[in-house]
Amino acid sequence: MLKPRDPETLNILTEYENYSVTSHSYDTTRQPIGMEVILGCFAASNTCPLHEQIILDAGCGTGNYLQAIHNKVGICHGIEVNEGMLAQAQNKFGNGSHVNLDHGSLLNLPYPDDFFDGIMCNQVIHHLDDPGKTDAFPNVKAMLFACYRVLRPHGVLVLNLCSRQQLVDGFWWADLIPKIVDKMAARIPSLDFTGKMLEAVGFQKGGIIVPLHETLQGQSYCDPKGPLQKSFRDGDSTWALLSEAELHQTLERIHAMNEDGSIIEYLDEREKRRKRVGQTTFIFARK
Ligand SMILES: C[S@@+](CC[C@H](N)C(=O)[O-])C[C@H]1O[C@@H](n2cnc3c(N)ncnc32)[C@H](O)[C@@H]1O
Repeated sequence: MLKPRDPETLNILTEYENYSVTSHSYDTTRQPIGMEVILGCFAASNTCPLHEQIILDAGCGTGNYLQAIHNKVGICHGIEVNEGMLAQAQNKFGNGSHVNLDHGSLLNLPYPDDFFDGIMCNQVIHHLDDPGKTDAFPNVKAMLFACYRVLRPHGVLVLNLCSRQQLVDGFWWADLIPKIVDKMAARIPSLDFTGKMLEAVGFQKGGIIVPLHETLQGQSYCDPKGPLQKSFRDGDSTWALLSEAELHQTLERIHAMNEDGSIIEYLDEREKRRKRVGQTTFIFARK
């Protein structure tokens, strides 16, 4: 079994996306997805009925997922490291609501042992580790340890991430920025390795569910001019990995494809690929 890391070594943060800025427009192109998957996983745990459960959203961002589930569970907690994102989440829930928001890191969760019935971690893993380290994904492992500690026995962890194949086939702009997609893929552990890490931390085998019909960007996903807007790009941190020159070149290309109409056929073909693989993968495991 793996051993947890010393909390003293968990203070380093990887932040290639400036969420203090993008928090202002994040909600214009992002929506929570896979809610049936997440709620189904929580409901199937053996801790207590769904409406009594204490749930944590680890890396809750602007609180979109908490907003979607808070009326269906007992008490919600959200933890978020970026103050801009946290402020947006705070705006969604009034005083006296049963949603408690904390500023902090999911690598070092400030909650007692055996506290939560369920934990969801949506689209956060790619922010935790810089690629190319000798020890593969040390911060993802630290996060899994932290979640394991604060989950009650039989409690469920649901990880929502983009698989490497989904990065390539699930997002229409991927063909226009293949090198950047490779960079992003290196930030995400493979599904196989994620399963091995979960097991090594002590989780029991769960499963993998892929919702094929939903997109992270909702209705705006297929907007052929979407990436030309900064607010659209702010909804997907892949764009933050492009240099100024790469971004300029890519936007020129999208602009030209819109001008000559070739974007229509391009999007049609990309939609066929997306519908085969989906955009996100939900991995669940029980303590
Ligand atoms: C792509 S956003 C996802 C936000 C939200 N979960 C959602 O899906 O809408 C990634 C979020 O993870 C947060 N994050 C990154 N590292 C974190 C850490 N160590 N602890 C807590 N939050 C973290 C970022 O600040 C950002 O809000």
